[in-house]
Amino acid sequence: MVVWFLNFWPNMKKLRLGIIGDPIIHSLSPIMHEAALHALGIEGSYTPLQVSSNQLSSVISQRRENWDGWNVTVPHKGNIIPLLDTIETQARKINSVNTVVRLKDHRLWGTSTDGYGLIKALECNLNFIPNGTHVVLLGAGGAARAAAAALALADISKLTIINRTPEKAMEIVNFVKTLSSCQTEIMTPSQIIAPLSSGDLVIQATSLGLKEIDPLPFSPQFLPEKCCVFDMIYSSTPFLQQSQRLGFKTSDGLEMLLYQGVKSFEYWTNQEAPVEIMRQTLYHAKGRK
Ligand code: ATR
Repeated sequence: MVVWFLNFWPNMKKLRLGIIGDPIIHSLSPIMHEAALHALGIEGSYTPLQVSSNQLSSVISQRRENWDGWNVTVPHKGNIIPLLDTIETQARKINSVNTVVRLKDHRLWGTSTDGYGLIKALECNLNFIPNGTHVVLLGAGGAARAAAAALALADISKLTIINRTPEKAMEIVNFVKTLSSCQTEIMTPSQIIAPLSSGDLVIQATSLGLKEIDPLPFSPQFLPEKCCVFDMIYSSTPFLQQSQRLGFKTSDGLEMLLYQGVKSFEYWTNQEAPVEIMRQTLYHAKGRK
């Protein structure tokens, strides 16, 4: 999609970008996007802004005047929707916006690049193409919902959700059924006492692994044979490390962060994003080669 509607384009005035969320301090998006702007010689900035839920509405009114585009992260991806003017169809379906573009007439257009980021990361890191596969999703929160939607829209044949609270998994299943005719299944971790009999990909989408004291979301010894394992957290969690030790092909979520950012950047600038520079910036920040 060619996006010609940014205020900045083609006048080449300073491009003002940012990200809103709560918390926002640990976001790697500012360094990634500023590196991309610099690499392309675009004068601009990308500013993190901590915004609580009760500030959201007033902050959006201000940003409408001050920013050309921005990212949205937890916990505002759904709540921002009524505050925008136009929502891209799939973002509306999944009720989640992570990218806002200010149009020439100052209307705000929202979309989600998270699904694109996930599908690209699976392809790049695991050589995994979702079409026709069975995916096992650990978790049923916001991140899991976004992953389920992306996978349903990418034509998986079966989705198994494993979550401590089955009611939340059921909500996602009901939602997935509005997007796809894939088979669905729900389990709780306590029901699993032997390796799963099938599953091509397991996606870790709970918040477990962010803190050192967290328990494992699922015992890697119960992973289905020969599956790939993707953790949406962008560091090497104990779950990923143990899965790797057992011989499973694994990936963390850093490449997903990269590709959702690549897509956002292209919406804002109408230029091809410098993917390798953005990747190197993220890898450097995480102390990776
Ligand atoms: P996010 O937006 O990052 O997805 P969330 O919406 O709070 O965060 O969802 C967190 C997910 O991690 C949920 O699936 C949650 O399980 P429940 O639905 O049962 O609450 C899961 N989770 C968090 N802490 C957990 C724990 N101690 N044990 C098992 N699952 C946990």
